[in-house]
This record gives sequence, structure tokens and C-alpha cells, in this order.
Amino acid sequence: MSKNKTYTRRRIIAASGAGLIGTALAGGAALPLWRYLAPEEERQAQETVTLARSLVGLGQAHFFRFRGYPAVAVQVSPGKFVALSAVCTHLGCIVTWQPEQGIFLCPCHGGKFSKFGEVLGGPPPAPLPSYAVAVQQDQLIIG
Ligand code: FES
Repeated sequence: MSKNKTYTRRRIIAASGAGLIGTALAGGAALPLWRYLAPEEERQAQETVTLARSLVGLGQAHFFRFRGYPAVAVQVSPGKFVALSAVCTHLGCIVTWQPEQGIFLCPCHGGKFSKFGEVLGGPPPAPLPSYAVAVQQDQLIIG
């Protein structure tokens, strides 16, 4: 009985030691991994995309990739451009542009967004995120 208790105590001590070592190793591996990944996020956050202004006609949309995700630029009025994420804020489907109505439609559950990304209807809980657009001569600098 007492031998069994000692054995149990030893197992507990060994398991605790192994747990501490495992935690230390996991922590030691997680830090370099975090350092490796963090600069990539920072780098992507500073990325810009340059589009030819002629790609985005008045009332038209041009889809492109921005920071690894689908995005879209629209010329909402003469010389005025907006850039938005094209990823629906409901469950992540890619919105489509409806030029006749001047809105975005999500094909998955019928979400509707204005040309500025505001929710007009359906289940999306939030607007489409927007990005800064600078017009420089015949180019659009996004980001
Ligand atoms: Fe767009 Fe559901 S994913 S409305």
C-alpha cells in the first residue's frame, strides 16, 4: 500500500517535471515561430497595390488581390474611387459587382452592399472593409 503510494507520488513528480519541460520547449518553439510570422504580417500591412486608372471605368468594378485577399476598386463618380475588401463579412464568400444597380451582391446568402461597402440587406453583420485610394496621374495606389 505504501509502496503503491510512493509509486504514485513518483509518477506525479515525473509527470509534473515532464509537463514543465514540455511547456518550456513549446514556449521556446513558439517564440521563434511568432517572430518569424509577425514581420510577414507587418510587411503585408504596408503593401500597396498599383492599378492603372483605366482599369476602373466610371460605374465599373475591377477585382484584384490585396494583401493576399480578394479586393475590388470602383469608380463611384467621375474621378472618385473606392477600394474595398471583396470578402463578404457574413461567411466569407466573394461578392460580385452588379453594374446595373451599382451594388455588390453576395452569391451565397444574398447579402447586399452599397458601392461604398455599406450593408444594404441580408445577413452580413458589417460593411466591407475599405482601403485608402490615392490617384496619381493615371494610376491608383491602394493601401
Ligand atoms: Fe455573404 Fe452569407 S457569405 S451573405
